[in-house]
Amino acid sequence: MNQKINPNNMPRHIGVIMDGNGRWAQKRGMMRTSGHRHAMNAVKTAISYCSQIGIEVLTLYAFSTENWKRPVEEVSVLMNLIVEFLLKETPEMKANNVVLRFIGDLSRVPEKSIKAIDYSVNEMKNNSGLLVNIALNYGGRNEIVHAVKSICQKVGEGDLSIDQINEQTFAEYLYTVGEPDPDLIIRSGGETRLSNFLTWQSAYSELYFTDVFWPDFGEDEFDNAILYFQAKDRRYGGIG
Ligand code: FPP
Repeated sequence: MNQKINPNNMPRHIGVIMDGNGRWAQKRGMMRTSGHRHAMNAVKTAISYCSQIGIEVLTLYAFSTENWKRPVEEVSVLMNLIVEFLLKETPEMKANNVVLRFIGDLSRVPEKSIKAIDYSVNEMKNNSGLLVNIALNYGGRNEIVHAVKSICQKVGEGDLSIDQINEQTFAEYLYTVGEPDPDLIIRSGGETRLSNFLTWQSAYSELYFTDVFWPDFGEDEFDNAILYFQAKDRRYGGIG
């Protein structure tokens, strides 16, 4: 870890929009999908590094509710890579005390992926270290609508009164229930937007954008993002 990083002011939760895989590959005359394949090394590094430096939660945006618009072959490569990653990396993640959680609407995710997800989540269920959220078929707006429906159902059944609905209780109906909001959101690949990622939870997140493509995103890049975060004065609407 970079010596300039203050270990007493670490972000508790880091979210990552892993963008730039296609361009990374195209720049090298390779197929877009080989960019996704190379991206898996960066995913592995992200998990092991965040675990090593004591981050509590890491959320990785693997597949958005909008990514179904991509060519079927690319969608299929992405789904297969996730399965491959889970089957290959679960023993090491388990040994590193990682806990795995999937956030998103898994009802549209292929059966083969669900099997691998269940296996990996179950293998790590007794761990207590870094919580890795993998956002799969995830959309922030979709998550909010899902929460509203669950709340309406509870109210309809008489298990919740309208007076009990506030920001805290609302957050209990999100996929990230029980987790701190992301302190820092990183987006690689040069774009400066959130693309439906952690829409509710990102209200006070610090945003770090870099031109580095995700397959090249390593430990030094994490350090740069954390240094950027530590230079911020987080006032939450106050005057500091
Ligand atoms: C954006 O790059 C990346 C994605 C849509 C997919 C990211 C998913 C992974 C890296 C797999 C994650 C797997 C696990 C296990 C967490 P892009 O293809 O849009 O890049 P471009 O903007 O250069 O075209």
